[in-house]
Amino acid sequence: MPRILTGVQSTGVPHLGNLLGAILPAIKWAHACSEPSFLFVADLHSITQIKDSKLLKENTYQVVAAWLACGLDTDRIIFYRQSDVPEVTELAWYLNCFYPYQRLKLAHSFKDKKDYIEDVNSGLFTYPMLMAADILLYDAEKIPVGKDQLQHLEIAREVAQRFNRKMGKVFVLPEAMMLENLLHIPGTDGQKMSKSRKNTINIFAPDKDLRKQIMSIQTDSMPLKAPKDPEKDLVFSFYKLLASEEEIDHMRENYLAGGYGYGQVKQALYEFFLKHFAKEREKFNSFVQDEALLDEILVHGSQRASKVAQQTLKRVRHALGFSANDLN
Ligand code: ADP
Ligand code: TRP
Repeated sequence: MPRILTGVQSTGVPHLGNLLGAILPAIKWAHACSEPSFLFVADLHSITQIKDSKLLKENTYQVVAAWLACGLDTDRIIFYRQSDVPEVTELAWYLNCFYPYQRLKLAHSFKDKKDYIEDVNSGLFTYPMLMAADILLYDAEKIPVGKDQLQHLEIAREVAQRFNRKMGKVFVLPEAMMLENLLHIPGTDGQKMSKSRKNTINIFAPDKDLRKQIMSIQTDSMPLKAPKDPEKDLVFSFYKLLASEEEIDHMRENYLAGGYGYGQVKQALYEFFLKHFAKEREKFNSFVQDEALLDEILVHGSQRASKVAQQTLKRVRHALGFSANDLN
């Protein structure tokens, strides 16, 4: 299996969509590789949105704790904080100079976001160049991403090709990898679950908050007594994501029989999540309180990542005719 590289933004505690769509499949894949993969917390990307240092730090620890709670093995995976390997920003600059402004303007993610967020800064616009640098710095070949990131991957590949064509073959061309059935996990409102839409289910939240999120899942207004079609209900779709076939069949019967209200379905889903993620929730709470341990883990990861980053940057600087002597 080829090793992978992927990043998760430190914009808050990862939600169910992040977990099922990115973290769990990435860990599973990376653990099956013979060579170490690269997984990182993309805090440099997060500053496009967050300008509060305390919050940024807190978010990073939460993301790190979440990955570790999901079983990430730091021996088998080079796990680091993006900002701890600043070589990436240098590479991003070079890439910026090799990618046409007119093409960057076509990036969907920027076009979509600029209409509903307040802070539309230049970092947000050049975001795909930093993402390309994340990938190219480590000669990464396979990049697991969700559908929303596919275009960014295309851009990374294209900028690598442009650079290689002009300066000689320096970069490995990366490829997107869709892990399993990368569907868009819906949020509590039925739209794609996303932090920015405030429709998340956060399985690492305290019991009370998790319950509140689940209780806010939108349903129709069928009365309690009426038989209901489970396939049309959002709560059932969450249940189906993780429950066993037997559990799903049982729940389906409840819907079809009638006399089973949405309040009960939601309570059942809440209890199911508590049980299903019991181990992860417990580990998350213990990691998140031990920042010294998290720092130690991240430093170790960044030292390993730096070694690879410096080698690549040396190649790039050499191709550009810049001095590369100060790099190891
Ligand atoms: P958000 O949309 O909440 O800001 P991110 O953009 O930080 O989430 O996404 C981090 C990772 O999680 C990406 O790989 C993305 O594809 C995946 N992801 C995010 N939301 C979902 C979702 N609703 N369903 C599946 N995967 C998702
Ligand atoms: N942009 C990705 C997201 O929002 C996170 C990310 C940053 C990333 N750098 C990356 C993902 C490199 C894969 C590879 O989800």
